[in-house]
Amino acid sequence: MNTLEALFKPRSIAVVGASRQPGKIGYEILRNLKEYGYGGRIYPVNPQAKEILGLKAYPSISSIPDSVDMVVVSVPAHMVPDVIEEAGRKGVKVAVVISSGFKEIGRHDLEEEIVLRARKYGMRILGPNIFGVVYTPARINASFGPKDVIPGHIAFITQSGALGIALMGMTIVEKIGVSTIISIGNKSDIDDADLLEYLAGDEATKVILIYLEGVKDGKRFIEVARKVSTSKPVIVIKAGKTEVGAKAVASHTGSLAGNVLIYSTVFKQTGILEARSVEEAFDWARTFSYSPEYRDGDLVVVTNGGGAGVLVTDTLSMNGVQLSPPPETLVNALKPKLPGFASLGNPIDVTGMISNEGYVDAVMSALLDDKVGIVLAVYCQTAVTDPTIIAGELIKRIKELGGLPKPLIASFIGGEEVYWAIQKLNNAGIPAFPMPERAASSVAALINYSRIRKRLLRNA
Ligand code: COA
Repeated sequence: MNTLEALFKPRSIAVVGASRQPGKIGYEILRNLKEYGYGGRIYPVNPQAKEILGLKAYPSISSIPDSVDMVVVSVPAHMVPDVIEEAGRKGVKVAVVISSGFKEIGRHDLEEEIVLRARKYGMRILGPNIFGVVYTPARINASFGPKDVIPGHIAFITQSGALGIALMGMTIVEKIGVSTIISIGNKSDIDDADLLEYLAGDEATKVILIYLEGVKDGKRFIEVARKVSTSKPVIVIKAGKTEVGAKAVASHTGSLAGNVLIYSTVFKQTGILEARSVEEAFDWARTFSYSPEYRDGDLVVVTNGGGAGVLVTDTLSMNGVQLSPPPETLVNALKPKLPGFASLGNPIDVTGMISNEGYVDAVMSALLDDKVGIVLAVYCQTAVTDPTIIAGELIKRIKELGGLPKPLIASFIGGEEVYWAIQKLNNAGIPAFPMPERAASSVAALINYSRIRKRLLRNA
């Protein structure tokens, strides 16, 4: 097992500083680990305890009568160097250091000390100053975030702890499935480039999303990001873009936020997709994680609302995607079925008087047209349609096809029934959003990534 693999697929985990007291970080990590269903061996380490949460506790790492692949360290910072030394001697491969009180408060010496000690033994360190790590295929939740993370295909790397924990909670509410969540904190050793490199080969991960404050080794990051972007989309949300924001970054994780322009240029060159907000980053990630790959073919927008059609046209254009007239085959197929005043341009406006069946039919016709490569279905709730019926029928018809043959992104706009329709679509693996701009920006991300990927592969 290589050392980074031990972070995702450890055969055994020790929690050093596992507390007996509910509400303390060391207790909550142990509880998450046990209750989320990790199948390997778990060893609480606490010199004061005999047993915690029904698990036999050990006074030290060296007293564990077995090999240990990963340790999660949750003792005060001044105790961490000794724990690392002992873990190294035991043959531990990776230490997940939760403790704060290192570089972020000026204690560079303490941080260097733990890295030096780990290196002696070939052990890697994640952190310090982190909330932990989650890897859903192995049912590992070694974090003090929420427990019931939904398995899926998004890898989320976050340099921010509390924001990361909050977003972890958001993924559960929004039913966004993740393969892994990694709190990366001060990046004393394991950094973004290491994780990108590993996750490029991780089968459960289809898309990588990074909340980034600063990069440790710019040259390596560029090299790795460019390589990884040829096989998987990498989305970044960069914090600290303003002068005041950059100062805030320095006191948060002790990173250098750097020059905004330099970062944006690097992201473009390496094929990284830079999102403008956390919401956009997760919208894109959800879309990539559900959708089959977009290769080529026309983009067709099907809407029953002219205004919504205009909004998505604007958003697509602002993101570098222009609509061209729909394929003739599709126009010919739809013409006899639509009212005379329907617009058969792109967007195809099937009009507000369309029925449930008529709308589903139009979307499916677009999806099944050979020249079409991607469909954006924009639906506005009307009194003559029912969004939950439309969603249910779309799901049924796509199931009958054996799954999505090409990307279909939906925006359903309206009241309470629309809320449930969106949930239904997302649960069925069709990315759906309540606002047209969010869906259009996600469509643009799929198309832009396909262009980027081709460019990177050409230049490789
Ligand atoms: N080995 C193992 N366990 C030990 C130990 C040792 N050598 N010495 C003491 N312990 C036990 C303690 O007895 C305690 O268990 P108990 O509650 O059953 O008595 C447990 O380890 C934790 O130690 P404690 O001193 O109570 O620390 P704490 O839980 O108050 O704080 C940290 C520890 C790591 C949580 C804290 O120092 C810290 O850094 N907090 C910030 C974490 C953070 O926010 N990280 C970034 C998130 S984004």
